[in-house]
Amino acid sequence: MVRLDLKFRMFYHMQDAGEQILSKPEDFDPFDPETIVNPFPFYAALRKHAPVFEMRRCGYYLVTRFADVRAAALDTQTFSSNLVAIVTEGVADGPQILDLTNSPRPADVLAIADAPTHTRQRKLTNKAFSFRRVAKLEPFVKGLMDELFTTLRETSEVDWMEAVGLPFPMRIISELVGFPPEDADRIQRWSDDALDLLSGIQSQEKLGRNALSVIELSRYLGILVVAAKADPGENVLGDLVRATQGDEEALSDEEVVSILVQLATAGQETTGSLIASAAMYLARDPELQERLRAEPQRIPDFIEEAVRLESPFYGHFRQTTRDTEIAGVALPEGARVMLCWASANRDEDEFTNPEQVDLDRSNTHLGFGFGPHLCIGASLARLEARVALETLLARTREFSLARPEEPLQYVESLFLRRLKALPLRLTYS
Ligand code: HEM
Repeated sequence: MVRLDLKFRMFYHMQDAGEQILSKPEDFDPFDPETIVNPFPFYAALRKHAPVFEMRRCGYYLVTRFADVRAAALDTQTFSSNLVAIVTEGVADGPQILDLTNSPRPADVLAIADAPTHTRQRKLTNKAFSFRRVAKLEPFVKGLMDELFTTLRETSEVDWMEAVGLPFPMRIISELVGFPPEDADRIQRWSDDALDLLSGIQSQEKLGRNALSVIELSRYLGILVVAAKADPGENVLGDLVRATQGDEEALSDEEVVSILVQLATAGQETTGSLIASAAMYLARDPELQERLRAEPQRIPDFIEEAVRLESPFYGHFRQTTRDTEIAGVALPEGARVMLCWASANRDEDEFTNPEQVDLDRSNTHLGFGFGPHLCIGASLARLEARVALETLLARTREFSLARPEEPLQYVESLFLRRLKALPLRLTYS
């Protein structure tokens, strides 16, 4: 049985590799639902034939090779993060960019700020979001995971995304930051809508709803900040509020609200995606599952592979501050580029057998970004994914996809890779 599965996997990968070598970028439509669900053959064709590819209908360039993506992420003087735009489809004829650079909006912080503003904000946020604070959370994370697993009541079929991927990261970020637990559902809804704004797939109706959610989330967080000022707690919110007092380095209230928006939005969907995609790989691979049950100390290596292969963010945007070039392609000042982490992470020039899970590779993946904007929540995401997988593996004898004959459904997004559901069949230990 295991052998058959291995054979199947090899065939699958060979077929994938063949497809990727034969394909040309023009064979793909990035907005085709098939490409959205599986953009990897498209990325492979781009890496080979057009490593800086102008997505004409969307008005940006896709950068797909590992070395180029990493170099641009480091060169923050040429590739600015200070941009806000929404790629839309269905609002007008075909996809187009809504440039919000000069629109009224929350303060530009962290992910969309450049030095020196970014450096100051990052220093203060790092203090609030310290490694020590995250590490201290482990007993809470384990207790919560146990609680969620117990509520499954040994049901044989479980939607892992609904049971764990959705509630687990939200409850943890609430505990860490200091969001009132009773508001978790609405914070989650607003945050999901806010991230959906960046999906690149927007109808008029979705655009309106998502924009409203950002306003509501910001208003809600503004009230939370005022309340925390009267009584700052021992949590991220309390530390950020304390950082509004003091010298010229201090954060403004608007900055704190915007930082909280980013923590709420970036902090849960991505981690839920990772927890689901990692479980999906294991559900399809009983041999690997068995190995990790026997050697749980290798789970962190597997998590790095899951981030590499199923990068929850396909990419992030930058804007050029001067005329420049990447891989011989001239980019004028003001050009928008997407640094495509998901493609870089499968670059055959960087990774041997990039399509395969390899626990022994020394992992240089860019799934958490690179350079000054490197993910501030990476240690939290790693902790959550590790505890979720440790529990899943320890409390089951085996698990598999509940309906392997049905293709898995992904959220329609050019920005986030996220399963809509992951039905698993579990045999409890
Ligand atoms: C598996 C989960 C996660 C993945 C794959 C991920 C990925 C990333 C990536 C690729 C970046 C770089 C963005 C850029 O260069 O423009 C980033 C930045 C960021 N992430 Fe994460 N992230 C995850 C979880 C989290 C969590 C749990 C939090 C917080 C609770 C978080 C908060 C942030 C913030 C605030 C930034 C901006 C940092 C800056 O610009 O200085 N992320 N993340």
